[in-house]
Amino acid sequence: MTSRQAAIRGAGPVSSRRSTPRGETRAQTAPGFPRTRLRRNRREPWLRRLVAESVLTASDLIWPAFLCEGVGKRDPIASMPGVVRYSVDAIVEAAGEAKSLGIPAVALFPEVPAERKTPDAREAVNPENLICRAARALKSAHPDLGVICDVALDPFNSDGHDGILIDGYVDNDRTVEVLCRQALVQAEAGCDVIAPSDMMDGRVGAIRDALDQAGYDRVCIMSYAAKYASAFYGPFRDAIGTKAVLKGDKKTYQMDAANSDEALREVGLDIAEGADMVMVKPGMPYLDIVRRVRDEFGLPTFAYQVSGEYAMIKGAAQRGWLDNDRVILESLIAFKRAGAAGVLTYFAIEAARLLNES
Ligand code: PBG
Repeated sequence: MTSRQAAIRGAGPVSSRRSTPRGETRAQTAPGFPRTRLRRNRREPWLRRLVAESVLTASDLIWPAFLCEGVGKRDPIASMPGVVRYSVDAIVEAAGEAKSLGIPAVALFPEVPAERKTPDAREAVNPENLICRAARALKSAHPDLGVICDVALDPFNSDGHDGILIDGYVDNDRTVEVLCRQALVQAEAGCDVIAPSDMMDGRVGAIRDALDQAGYDRVCIMSYAAKYASAFYGPFRDAIGTKAVLKGDKKTYQMDAANSDEALREVGLDIAEGADMVMVKPGMPYLDIVRRVRDEFGLPTFAYQVSGEYAMIKGAAQRGWLDNDRVILESLIAFKRAGAAGVLTYFAIEAARLLNES
């Protein structure tokens, strides 16, 4: 077939069809214009709903929530308009709303008071730390709401890094030992899913063994398998108070934005070490990675629409430059289209309300 014939059939240039064999088969069975008119299926709202390839519901959303010390607190975060840090009593109340909207799980991130941050991040393994107290309170108030706890040392480390610094370098194996103990205190507090976000090598296997040996074989691991060294984390670091203390950047452990094959190696290793679910992070700028991971491995693949993505959308919406509700839902369906099983998003509650209304 010549490229002109292909274009008449509505199949695009031959060269691009050759690179997508599945598309080629479909194009050859379609009769072509004018008998084929793709606009027919888009004519009415009910018809568009009927042929939709991806579906977004509240069940796809994980709500990342920030914690702070105190009672009755909802501290606003300037770079994330509409997002607050909750004291333990307040997160229990807010999580009740998340649950009633159909959100399956909440992911917890603590703002640790500066005086409790040390170079060895020992507060991370304190069974009475903020994250453990919140996990216990949430599980007792809402036993059927999933609780996901981040494993990484940055909230607790006076250097702001996800691991332990030795001579200015984040020491992998020393860090993994602490991460295992951190995972154990969180599991003991009732956490359902351990989510290592630190990007140390070998941590998933070590944490799996530590959990199993302590009798926590039912606790899941959702690994931040492909986590990039990203400028989109800026507002998050305001939220948990690590921006001011972070020395340097995280490029010796988080991935380089230039890499995609390497993401598959990361995911493959984490699965081999026992990850139940994997995550790609950030979200929207990395949807190509979500699609590759999903196609290659087929296991539940999550994506994290991170703080900077939230700030961009909210900031523009607040100025009237974007339609808040439509952009939120469009951004989230994009994750489903890319193959994600679900999305961690600061829009979770707002989006669930919109989805339940429609
Ligand atoms: C750190 C961690 C980060 C996020 C989740 N866990 C930030 C970082 O790596 O510096 C970012 C989330 C966001 O930006 O919303 N372990």
